[in-house]
Amino acid sequence: MTYRHNHRKIQNKLNDTTSVKSALSFLLIPSLLFTSLLVTGCKVSSSTTIASTETEQDLRSLLALPEHMPLPAIPDFNPLTPEKITLGRFLFYDTKLSANQTQSCGSCHFQSDAFADGIATPIGSTGHALVRNSQGLSNVAYNATFTWSNDTFFELEDQLNVPIRADDPIELGVTDAELETVLNRFNSDEKYQQLFSAAFPESDSGASINKIIFSLASFVRTMISANSSYDKYLLGDKSALTPQQKQGFSLFNGEKFECFHCHTGINFTVSYKDANSINDAILFPFFNNGLYNVNSDGSYPESDQGIFDLSSDPADKGKFRPPSLRNIELTAPYMHDGSINTLREVVEHYARGGRLTPEGLDNAGDGKNNPYKSALITGFSATEEEIDAVVAFLESLTDYDFIHNEKFSNPHEEN
Ligand code: HEC
Ligand code: HEC
Repeated sequence: MTYRHNHRKIQNKLNDTTSVKSALSFLLIPSLLFTSLLVTGCKVSSSTTIASTETEQDLRSLLALPEHMPLPAIPDFNPLTPEKITLGRFLFYDTKLSANQTQSCGSCHFQSDAFADGIATPIGSTGHALVRNSQGLSNVAYNATFTWSNDTFFELEDQLNVPIRADDPIELGVTDAELETVLNRFNSDEKYQQLFSAAFPESDSGASINKIIFSLASFVRTMISANSSYDKYLLGDKSALTPQQKQGFSLFNGEKFECFHCHTGINFTVSYKDANSINDAILFPFFNNGLYNVNSDGSYPESDQGIFDLSSDPADKGKFRPPSLRNIELTAPYMHDGSINTLREVVEHYARGGRLTPEGLDNAGDGKNNPYKSALITGFSATEEEIDAVVAFLESLTDYDFIHNEKFSNPHEEN
């Protein structure tokens, strides 16, 4: 895939600070825009530049997008419809979707936790331990790539095969051998027959794995979180952030803490795209943020070395996607392996410039000296008060409407 080759070039470029700054400069614009809003206090207008067409308006209302959120990129091959969203919601919460009927997507993605699950790493339906932390699902529609670290998943439709179909490790366990049994469960259920034919009216052949994936992707795309205190502030309510949170926001966007270089824009990540993104300008960034330095040779624990496991290029050791920080207060524990428990410890990790795992413990080594660590993570000295302020700012991204929105709740519990 030539596309993938291009990413490598972008990634390689992102390895040194100077080119990061120039490569990312266009992405910094949104963050500068927000910073200047802090000062001027004017109302945010939508960053959407394409003409408002009827379709765009339909899409915005289907997604219930507030004015300040750009339109996400919806792939042409899977147009969003209310019927697919409804089917996707039923499937998301249905244990019929696992081979042994013990788990659904909702078993690892709880609405109350902004669709994370509160534990370091989950167990799949047949007892396999997964090595990565269950991700929160706020505003997933804007991610440039999917999962903690994969530079080949550009669409949700690619990624969703994994939880459903993978056999190593098993999540829902719908392997080739089990597929027919699982599809028959839906085909023999009258409610699902109706839901499938409403969602795919042009086809009368019942449930299929593609229809399942397309509906789930449609449902997940509707999980928009845009009503936090921070959003209210952006929309002009100057009292929505406390003075401490405002201080934290400027520290977050300042050159000492450097957070904004990787966590910027409306979704707080440089791994971003929307309906107006120009393909060649979308970044597929992955960084080593200094969590480990096993054997002092730059390695991460063998179970998961990020992009390196796909590329075998040592420079890719420990490279992960900068996650969105939306609802971050609700998605502890943190990082790809859930190895940091609190937001305060996350900020302290960055202040130190990497994590020290003492000798005698598994995976000992000083992440601060990891040769593959991003040049943007150098460490800084911060007062307790400054750290508290950044944590308070991160907490302003919590959106209580999102975790209580009935559109995202379990429909099987309704009646
Ligand atoms: C056994 C637990 C488990 C189950 C079941 C599960 N997930 Fe996940 N989910 C995870 C983990 C762990 C990750 C991170 C995977 C990785 O980085 O490789 C993840 C990642 C994701 C992502 C990527 C988010 C992003 O920001 O890129 C999406 C979307 C997702 N899951 C949706 C689903 C859907 C839909 C289902 C049901 C078909 C599902 N998951 C079932 C644990 C689970
Ligand atoms: C060089 C890019 C970069 C910079 C700068 C950066 N981060 Fe990150 N951040 C990442 C990456 C990559 C991850 C995921 C790393 C992993 O899981 O191994 C991450 C993870 C996080 C997480 C955990 C997210 C989750 O879902 O578990 C938080 C919180 C966070 N960063 C906050 C910050 C703050 C606060 C700052 C500034 C002090 C900051 N980051 C600076 C790239 C960066």
